[in-house]
Amino acid sequence: MSLPLVLAIESSCDETGIAVVESGRRIHANVVASQVALHAPAGGIVPEVAARAHLRWILPVLDEAWTAAGVGWGDIAAITVTEGPGLAGSLLVGINVAKTLAWIRRKPLVGVNHLEGHVYAAWLLDPGAAEVEPPRFPAVALVVSGGHTFLAEMRDHLDYRLLGETVDDAAGEAFDKVGRLLGLGYPGGPAIQRAAEGAIRHDAVFPRAWMGDSYDFSFSGLKTAARRTVASARADEGLADEPAAPLSSARTAELAWGFQDSVVDVLVTKAIRAARELGAASIVLGGGVAANGPLRARLAGEAAALGVPLVVPRPGLCTDNGAMIGAAGWRRFQAGERSSLDLEARPSWPLAAR
Ligand code: KG4
Ligand code: ZN
Repeated sequence: MSLPLVLAIESSCDETGIAVVESGRRIHANVVASQVALHAPAGGIVPEVAARAHLRWILPVLDEAWTAAGVGWGDIAAITVTEGPGLAGSLLVGINVAKTLAWIRRKPLVGVNHLEGHVYAAWLLDPGAAEVEPPRFPAVALVVSGGHTFLAEMRDHLDYRLLGETVDDAAGEAFDKVGRLLGLGYPGGPAIQRAAEGAIRHDAVFPRAWMGDSYDFSFSGLKTAARRTVASARADEGLADEPAAPLSSARTAELAWGFQDSVVDVLVTKAIRAARELGAASIVLGGGVAANGPLRARLAGEAAALGVPLVVPRPGLCTDNGAMIGAAGWRRFQAGERSSLDLEARPSWPLAAR
């Protein structure tokens, strides 16, 4: 008889991730091949290059995960795979491997929304880690990634009500663009966090788009303000407009700090307001930007002050990985969902729609 284990595959963007997860919670193996070094010279993800790299890496990643998990096919209850949203060519690689395995091994196949994976990363436990209390409902979920930024209410498993989302850029996209403006390389998020840690002065003020009293977000104005501020800082330092010579590291650090503070302020303020207004029993934070130290720290502080537990995965489970697709996929499998072997990529697929 099969154990409550799923084999989970993620290939929506620039990480090839394969995991084995038990009961939507306990990780048995979780292998991620990152393409960061491959895309860094271009300063961003090149879709065609990403798809080819998934093709190159997916079978070695599968082998490594399978060996690390030490399970047999008889133990696997289902195969779960990211169906969307993401880059079409990248998604197709994972989907085709999942369909092939499902067909050869006669296993049920479950397509998973990538954003739902980011939410369900909060349920994951590392191998050998102590049991902790999982998120309680109603929960407020804040997902902040390179492609998406939204707040949702969860009244139960798999039950989402979208509270608000970005009307333009995602927060991670803004981090990446401003990282490039500051000459910090790709991806901008971790680079901005690192640069900001070196800031001596903490008085650079970047705009915050509050979007009235809605739960929506907007980061394009912030990006424009950052461009203007970087240009005038460069003029102050007598540098030409083209970023041939970098700004002084002191000024770079101050601007990185100011930008990060603006993003964190808006994200935390809206998540806390949602938790208060909805009487949330927990707050869940996920997505690549949730790896950000100041965001985690400030949300933890304000959630504690409100008396609402915050559940946030360790940074390696906030960025894209297979385990989160196993966590969400297990819930879908338990709810009786099955995908056919005709499963196709859904490049744009909002969380709340199925
Ligand atoms: O969730 P993710 O791995 O991929 C998508 O689904 O988009 O998120 C990637 C995003 C990138 O924009 C990256 O700059 C950002 O997450 N990110 C961070 C940090 N680590 C990754 N942003 C801020 N601080 C970080 N430490
Ligand atoms: Zn993601």
